[in-house]
Amino acid sequence: MSPERMAGHPLSLALPKGRLFNQALEHFAARGLCVSPPDRELIVTDNKGMLRIFIVKNSDLPVYVSHGIAGLGICGSDVLYESGGVFFELLEFSFGSARMCLAAREDHDQDAAIKHLKVATKFPVFTRNFFNRRGIPVEIIKLNGSVELAPVLGLAPYIVDLVETGSTLKANGLKIVEELENTRVKLIANPAYYKVHYGEVDTFVGFLKERA
Ligand code: PRP
Repeated sequence: MSPERMAGHPLSLALPKGRLFNQALEHFAARGLCVSPPDRELIVTDNKGMLRIFIVKNSDLPVYVSHGIAGLGICGSDVLYESGGVFFELLEFSFGSARMCLAAREDHDQDAAIKHLKVATKFPVFTRNFFNRRGIPVEIIKLNGSVELAPVLGLAPYIVDLVETGSTLKANGLKIVEELENTRVKLIANPAYYKVHYGEVDTFVGFLKERA
């Protein structure tokens, strides 16, 4: 399906700032849908008028989709889980996977039994649920970024955070204690939006699935 055949009313799509934004645009561009890299604008369109794209902070993306401001969103499973929202998951992408990891300073004793955890993280819901299932009490310090600083500065001995290349951990003298879960990047829809626009949305999903 060529993008030209899909042009009509643009679909509204929230994309998160940062790495996933560029990876999503590369995925689109490989299928002939081009979006000029924005300067400071937070609403952009593509060359075919197929999408109206809202550029939002990663952790805010489920808020925009659950309120129906954006009908669609591209988002990591980590952020979806944290939001607790109800979405239709339409597609899983091959880009952007990462590992949710427990990490600590390089001099951490890997063999020490963990009976209680003090953890700094951007993912308090995941962290609490994960360790509660194991019966390990966990004290959580919620941060919004630069989580790797916490063990370095003594805020908490452990962090739970996403690891993609591992270079941020390494650069800050940290190591993985345990890989907890793999995360995947998904196309999500507001359920009501999908019910109204399912034809165009399904065509868009088919377009995204096409091999580049
Ligand atoms: C993410 C994550 C790690 C880093 C991991 O942070 O929270 O800090 O990327 O990537 P790496 O393994 O490839 O080094 P992000 O870039 O979203 O920034 P933030 O800390 O400000 O949230």
